[in-house]
Amino acid sequence: MKFPLMRNNILREDLDAVIEYLKRDDPILTHGANVRAFEAEWSQWLGVKYSVFVNSGASANLLTWLYCAFGIRRAGKSSFPLLRGFPTWPQCCKMDSRPVFADIDPRTLAMDTARILAKIGDRTRAVFLTHVQGFDGLTDDLLHELDRRNIPLIEDVCESHGATHNGRKLGAYGWISNFSFYYAHHMSTIEGGMVCTDDAEAYQQLRMLRSHGMVREADDPLVRTAYQRANPELNPDFIFAFAAYNCRNTEIGGIMGRSQLKRLDRNVKRRNANLLRFLKQIDPNKYRTDFKLEGAELRLNLILKQAG
Ligand SMILES: Cc1ncc(COP(=O)(O)O)c(C=O)c1O
Repeated sequence: MKFPLMRNNILREDLDAVIEYLKRDDPILTHGANVRAFEAEWSQWLGVKYSVFVNSGASANLLTWLYCAFGIRRAGKSSFPLLRGFPTWPQCCKMDSRPVFADIDPRTLAMDTARILAKIGDRTRAVFLTHVQGFDGLTDDLLHELDRRNIPLIEDVCESHGATHNGRKLGAYGWISNFSFYYAHHMSTIEGGMVCTDDAEAYQQLRMLRSHGMVREADDPLVRTAYQRANPELNPDFIFAFAAYNCRNTEIGGIMGRSQLKRLDRNVKRRNANLLRFLKQIDPNKYRTDFKLEGAELRLNLILKQAG
C-alpha cells in the first residue's frame, strides 16, 4: 500500500474566499487587514498575546534568531550557545551564535530533557526545542528547570500544530514559538509561518525585523517615537533600526489562513486518529510503536465516544 508524503489541503472554500476578495475594486494584495486579522485569530487560537505572520516557518525561525542575536549584541556578547534540535541550526550559526546539540528521546523525537539539562552551562542563553511530527516534546521537569534557571524556551512547532502538553497547546509555553503553514502541514497559507510570543518588546522588534528593520512597522507609538527622537535628522517613514530581511506574507496568505484556521482543530483530531489507527496495525517487534501519545489517546477516546 502506498501513501503520498503530502497532499494539497487547500479546499474550494479557501480558494473561493480568495476569489471573493479579488473581485473587490482595487484589492490590497500585500500585507494588510487580513494579515492583521489572521494574526489576531491565530493568537486567540494558540492562547498568546501576539503573533507575526511571515512567509515561511524557516523565516519564523530566522527572525527569532535575528531577534536573539540583536539582544545579545546589545548586551555586548558576540556569541551564545543555544541548545538545539534540527533543522535551522545553519541560521543560528550565521547569527554568530553557537548551537549546542542534545540527543533526542525516541518516544517523542524531541531533545531529551536529561540530555538538555546536562548540557546547560553558564553561557546558555536559550533552549530551542523542536516538536517533531505532532509529538509533545515538553516535560514538566524541563519546564520547571528552565524556569528555575531563568533560561528562555523557544519552541519550533512547525510540525505540531494543535498538539498539547498538560492540555495546553504547544507554542503557548515558549518565550517565542514558531509555526509553519507550508502546504504539507496541518494547515496551509500556500507558504507561510507565524512567530508567537507574550513579550510586548519582542513583538515590536519582530514586527520591524519582518520588514527590513523599519521602525514604522512597530505598532506601539511609544516605540516609534523613541526611535524618531533618537534620529531627528531622519525621515520617520524611513528609519531602519536593524539590518534585517523582508519576510512579509500577503493578503492572500492571510485570507487562506483565516479560512483554514476554522478547520484546524478538526484536522488535528483526524491526524491523531489516523496515527493511532496506523500504530495499532504495526508490528511492535519490527517497528517502534511506543511513542508518547498521552494527549492523542485521550483525544481519540473522546472522538470515539462522540461518534457513539
Ligand atoms: C520542524 C520544522 N521547522 C521549520 C520548518 C520550516 O518551515 P517552512 O517549510 O515553512 O519554511 C519545517 C519544515 O517543514 C519543519 O518541519
